[in-house]
Amino acid sequence: MKFFIDTANLEDIRSAHLKGWVDGVTTNPSLIAKEGGGRLLKDIIKDICEIVSGPISAEVIALDAKGMIKEGKELAKIAKNVVVKVPLTEDGLIAVKEFSKEGIQTNVTLVFSALQALLAAKAGATMVSPFVGRLDDIHTSGMDVVAQIKTIFDNYGFPTEILVASVRHPMHLLDAALIGADIATMPYSVIKQLTKHPLTDRGLDQFLKDAGKAGHA
Ligand code: G3P
Repeated sequence: MKFFIDTANLEDIRSAHLKGWVDGVTTNPSLIAKEGGGRLLKDIIKDICEIVSGPISAEVIALDAKGMIKEGKELAKIAKNVVVKVPLTEDGLIAVKEFSKEGIQTNVTLVFSALQALLAAKAGATMVSPFVGRLDDIHTSGMDVVAQIKTIFDNYGFPTEILVASVRHPMHLLDAALIGADIATMPYSVIKQLTKHPLTDRGLDQFLKDAGKAGHA
């Protein structure tokens, strides 16, 4: 399973990457606005691509297919590992089909149902992003949608990868891994939580105390 970091914060990306914890990065217009400080999207994406060699998602802003295709082609020129992020709309699917013909990688975002994911896969999406946290927020199980997508993609042998997004806590990651999702994208805070266990801390304390008593420390 691949781990992506869901942020445009260069410090967090650098730190997580140094630890070997990230295979790719996802951004969206809200994350770029939060970290950008008025910088252009293409400059921020270029910086991220210099840190991480795996897939880096950069989202288009246009709402019409023509505009999305134009923006996406510009984004794809930034670096080989740029993945054009496109919203799941009728125009978005037209753009994804075109990108797929041209060999440009895509991440179809704002996916909230298995049938939306099926449409994205049929259009030739490289990845689809079901937003589990936002579904949970409206008391609908985000993970049930991920499980349905997994079954459908397996039934028909779609190569489209399932990228579980809007991950809010480690249990989302555990459930996504048990279902067999290909990728999960998480804020750095969630990635850091994964190493933590109170029994690990307690066990380490005890080992150090015992080593001290035995004169080994
Ligand atoms: O990158 C999109 C996604 O992960 C958003 O997460 O927490 O804003 O729902 P969130």
